[in-house]
Amino acid sequence: MTTALTPVTATDADDLSVWPASTARLPHGGLAVGGVSLAEVAESFGTPAYVLDEGEVRARCRAYRDAFPGADVLYAAKAFLCRAMVRWIDEEGLGLDVCSAGELELAVTAGFPPDRVVMHGNAKSPGDIESALRLGVGRIVIDGPSEIARLAAAVGPHGRQRVMVRVVPGVSAGGHEKIRTGTDGQKFGLSPTDGSAQHAIARLLTQPQLQLVGLHCHIGSQITDTEPYVAALRRMVDLMAQVRDLHGLVLPELDLGGGHGIAYRPGEPALGLTGLARRLRTELDERCAAAGLPVPRLAVEPGRAVAGPAGVALYRVLSVKSTGDQVFVAVDGGMSDNPRPALYGVRYAPRLVGRHSTAGSREATVVGRHCEAGDILAAGVGLPGDIRPGDLLAVPVAGAYQLSMASGYNMVGRPPAVAVHGGRARLLVRRETLADLRSRDVGA
Ligand code: LLP
Repeated sequence: MTTALTPVTATDADDLSVWPASTARLPHGGLAVGGVSLAEVAESFGTPAYVLDEGEVRARCRAYRDAFPGADVLYAAKAFLCRAMVRWIDEEGLGLDVCSAGELELAVTAGFPPDRVVMHGNAKSPGDIESALRLGVGRIVIDGPSEIARLAAAVGPHGRQRVMVRVVPGVSAGGHEKIRTGTDGQKFGLSPTDGSAQHAIARLLTQPQLQLVGLHCHIGSQITDTEPYVAALRRMVDLMAQVRDLHGLVLPELDLGGGHGIAYRPGEPALGLTGLARRLRTELDERCAAAGLPVPRLAVEPGRAVAGPAGVALYRVLSVKSTGDQVFVAVDGGMSDNPRPALYGVRYAPRLVGRHSTAGSREATVVGRHCEAGDILAAGVGLPGDIRPGDLLAVPVAGAYQLSMASGYNMVGRPPAVAVHGGRARLLVRRETLADLRSRDVGA
């Protein structure tokens, strides 16, 4: 069976709605991001490559600051971190959420103020805790009962560390089962339903080395609806009222985590930032008034919504193959730089850049170069019927949880990160070379 050729329509190939705001069309099918032609980035830095639009990252940080005045906005470093990103986040006035000594040390050695850092982790290593205390992080989020005595001992008799408690508010939300963290029965946080949150809080308050400043929750990731956040907020305020009643302690801070969903393809829903902010503010004011609590300082921890839409992945087509009724377009990257389709079934919208094609659109499956059939970057996408080896494909919304989750699979080396801004491209993180891989292999 042959696949019919249909004219390329404005909706499938020309819709740039999920691309960075700076994206501009160039003659002959070119695209520029941050004033730089993507074809030129590919020429200069090779492929695969991850392009990060500095202006888009900064604009997203500002949008958060504007939407949440009087709240702390902490960028979740796990989405993507490098020293330039640290500087942008710092300059835009955000804080940072880290979950390892690695993320923390990178941020602080790049000049990020440690008091604006919150450290998370369901299983913090001795190294994580040592690093957090030595560098002086603002807050450590307690995720389990065994951490309390351990952390208090590490702080020592003369120190005092501000901490929060991660609570599971019993709200199920998130784009995939693997990234839902708001209910009992998963590894994060302490439940108020079975009393373990209350128990941990009571124990914490007996430790003079630890100063409990607030509660934290993170219900999941890639959430596109405000209601789960509202439900979580209510549970959290209820628990804050319980803490006040039981211990006479009014907690000054409430961190509602991240998880704000974005569109990966045109037409997909995204969480509206201003709507979320307004709703949370009203709900927080009302709920606190009803409970007779002063309104705590709010914090949010977006990762994906800051970095995701600012990134574009560039791949070179290596082979085009028709098998049965399917066309496989294989590129020079894949699940080692983007495990997300394999892990969470995410669908991306790649497009041809740098060449104008007059061929009609044909359905294709964009696959990677790795040695398994599940190495699919995008299934059932419309690409020009004359797509061929040497063509350049660009995948938008590639800035979060791709490079940061890249692996050493098949020893192809991790791609570079390239910043584009004001018509200039500059290397942020260089490509991992075969020499890098060999140099770690020190056995005989
Ligand atoms: N705060 C905490 C405590 C978190 O665990 C996370 C994400 C965030 C904030 C930021 O969530 P975001 O705004 O980026 O959704 N690898 C998965 C996502 C895992 C998210 C883990 N925690 C993915 O590629 O979809």
